[in-house]
Amino acid sequence: MQTEILSPTSENIEKAARLLVAGEVVAMPTETVYGLAANAYDASAVAKIFAAKGRPQDNPLIVHIADIGELYNICSVVPEGAVKLASRFWPGPLTIILPKKNIIPDCVSASLSSVAVRMPSHPVAHELILRAGVPLAAPSANISGFPSPTSLEHVRDDMTGRIPAIIDGGKCEYGVESTVISLTGAVPRLLRPGGITPEMLEGVLGKIEIDSAVLNPLAANATAASPGMKYKHYSPKCLVKIVRGDFEKYKEYIETVKNEKNAFCLCFNGEGEKLPLPCVSYGDRTQPLTQTRRLFDALRELDEAGAEVAYARAPEEKGLGLAVCNRLYRAAGFNFIG
Ligand code: TXA
Ligand code: MG
Repeated sequence: MQTEILSPTSENIEKAARLLVAGEVVAMPTETVYGLAANAYDASAVAKIFAAKGRPQDNPLIVHIADIGELYNICSVVPEGAVKLASRFWPGPLTIILPKKNIIPDCVSASLSSVAVRMPSHPVAHELILRAGVPLAAPSANISGFPSPTSLEHVRDDMTGRIPAIIDGGKCEYGVESTVISLTGAVPRLLRPGGITPEMLEGVLGKIEIDSAVLNPLAANATAASPGMKYKHYSPKCLVKIVRGDFEKYKEYIETVKNEKNAFCLCFNGEGEKLPLPCVSYGDRTQPLTQTRRLFDALRELDEAGAEVAYARAPEEKGLGLAVCNRLYRAAGFNFIG
């Protein structure tokens, strides 16, 4: 299949919308990461998303909407907490899980009784949903298991020949996927940290629970609250190991591994000059938004540079740093030093 790259002009968005209405899959930019979109009401179109990504059928998709009214078409219950979250954080990088209506095909929700819904703020995604006239089911536009795509180049690398079109939206603003919160239980539960931090959510909802899978591997016998958590994720081809502690400790540790073959540092801006190994940096130590923007790019760069192992620095597990740690720990398969 030929994959056309579309610049985000009005005619091209219209063209992409027509492909979606015809049951095709199109990659679209969002403020978080690029998504692989199809008509959420069309099971055979949604099946093409799973095929293009090589995604396991039991991992449900997020439904993207452009109008708050759509929430009531998709969900059987819309509690007050959902309305509050939506009015505070939509459009934006927040996904809310609610009980679903039957209009959502089983393949979208992986036969769960709930559905994940989000209203993206990216103007191209917004326009595309409006023109298609239907909600769009969309996972991240990477091959399953690889780092999520945050630029046109990443999507092209993964999806060329697999889908008819990619809309170019440049680099993504956040660079990590949306925050996922479930409102299906008694207490709101954070399933995936993202651009909307736990502190911001608690400002609206009061106390929330943070699922243990956010920062820990899923126990062998546990069922995942979010099926996506049980799969190896965000992984570059090289081994990633997290070195805990401050920069001095990190540097000391790097001295002990500096003769390893094709070993790299994955560190913060400005640290590379002080280290005896080749380095890929991913943002400022004190500014987590610069880290989320760079992380997936940096993981892909390590592979391109021929890294076999990367020793990584991690930020504090709070605020946006929690989103960075969640992705980085998974990329490392929870392999910690120190
Ligand atoms: O920022 C984002 O959320 C991006 C852009 C494209 O919108 N999308 C994205 O989708 O990251 P995906 O499919 O890569 O991740 C969705 C996550 C998965 O971990 C999935 O298991 C979980 O959300 N999920 C979806 N529906 C769910 C449900 N009903 N219950 C629990 N978890 C669900
Ligand atoms: Mg994904």
